[in-house]
Amino acid sequence: TQPLRIAIAGLGTVGTGIVRMVQTHGDKMLARSGREIRIVAVSARSRGKDRGVKLDAFAWEDDPVALARRDDVDLIVEVMGGEDGPAKVLTETALAAGKHVVTANKAMMARHGQALAELAEANDAALRYEAAVAGGIPIMKALTEGLAGNGIERVMGVMNGTCNYILTQMEETGADYEDVLAAAQQLGYAEADPAFDVGGIDAAHKLALLAATAFGTRVDFDGVTIEGIEHISLTDITQARELGYKVKLLGVARMSDEGLEQRMQPVLVPARSSIGQLEGVTNLVVVEGDFVGRTVFTGPGAGEGPTASAIMGDVMDIARGLRIPAFGQPAHSLSAANRAASAGA
Ligand code: NDP
Ligand code: HSE
Repeated sequence: TQPLRIAIAGLGTVGTGIVRMVQTHGDKMLARSGREIRIVAVSARSRGKDRGVKLDAFAWEDDPVALARRDDVDLIVEVMGGEDGPAKVLTETALAAGKHVVTANKAMMARHGQALAELAEANDAALRYEAAVAGGIPIMKALTEGLAGNGIERVMGVMNGTCNYILTQMEETGADYEDVLAAAQQLGYAEADPAFDVGGIDAAHKLALLAATAFGTRVDFDGVTIEGIEHISLTDITQARELGYKVKLLGVARMSDEGLEQRMQPVLVPARSSIGQLEGVTNLVVVEGDFVGRTVFTGPGAGEGPTASAIMGDVMDIARGLRIPAFGQPAHSLSAANRAASAGA
């Protein structure tokens, strides 16, 4: 079997994690997928930067889009970030050329995922983004595979590791909001612009992707009601604790007769509940299905290792030849009407 030849665009927290993971577990990946996964080329902004991983065996492209034009590349891993700009051009160029794309970019997918999924299908290419939603938790795989036979009634969860880290660190140490945010950035949890984290936008991107997949609707990021944690004070957190509650940035999406309702906002939850007990960067996603009942998924929501893990799960699926549409069903069939149709209305 021919190796699956991959190129990595972006060598920051996530990109270097992927290089490290392939270098550590390449043999396991071959054994489990039946195909060697070979990094052939990489790109980032500054070539000379010491990134703590060995890159000399890989070709270098100054322009990330050039990765998609290489004949020796089958699959692009996009981990640069940015809603538009080079990440989107690279993804479009790769898919149009029939190359597979695995991305961690929730901003791009929440805005352009629908069109990109259609482009992927038109060119018989795979587009996967497990790492974009809830970090290391394989929640997209759960929705599109293990739970795919269910009618989904509600999805909800804590899906921004930076915010949960800030809220729990403030509570535990009494530390200042700005200091804890700086620590989250240092740990590689935060977005390039951390206003996306604390403003609830990053978590809303994830909720929109989760909801589209769960309910078979078009991705509707603009339809998410968003409130961030910027205005939560230490006093709010300690008063909540005294009453037996925790403050959490919680997203909820449900389908009602009025259509899809999506909300991302800080809420009070009982301190002893599974959501109340979430510490640090941990995420949690609840999926309620009509046949399965209530399922709960938890794990690290950000950082180098967890995100690389989610990316490589997608890459290995593609190596195995698995072709699951980006939203669990063909992109052209995603619409608000699907739920009514599937309910027999
Ligand atoms: P970083 O900021 O750490 O890394 C970004 C990388 O992309 C850098 O290597 C940078 O180059 C490169 N890059 C940025 N712009 C360009 C460009 N125009 N041309 C070439 N290279 C470019 O980000 P992360 O690794 O943290 O995140 C990457 C993506 O993964 C984002 O979409 C993010 O939302 C997503 N993600 C991140 C998670 C995390 O925990 N960090 C978790 C889940 C998803 P250089 O290093 O030279 O500056
Ligand atoms: N900034 C994001 C977070 C990264 O803190 O959850 C993971 O998507």
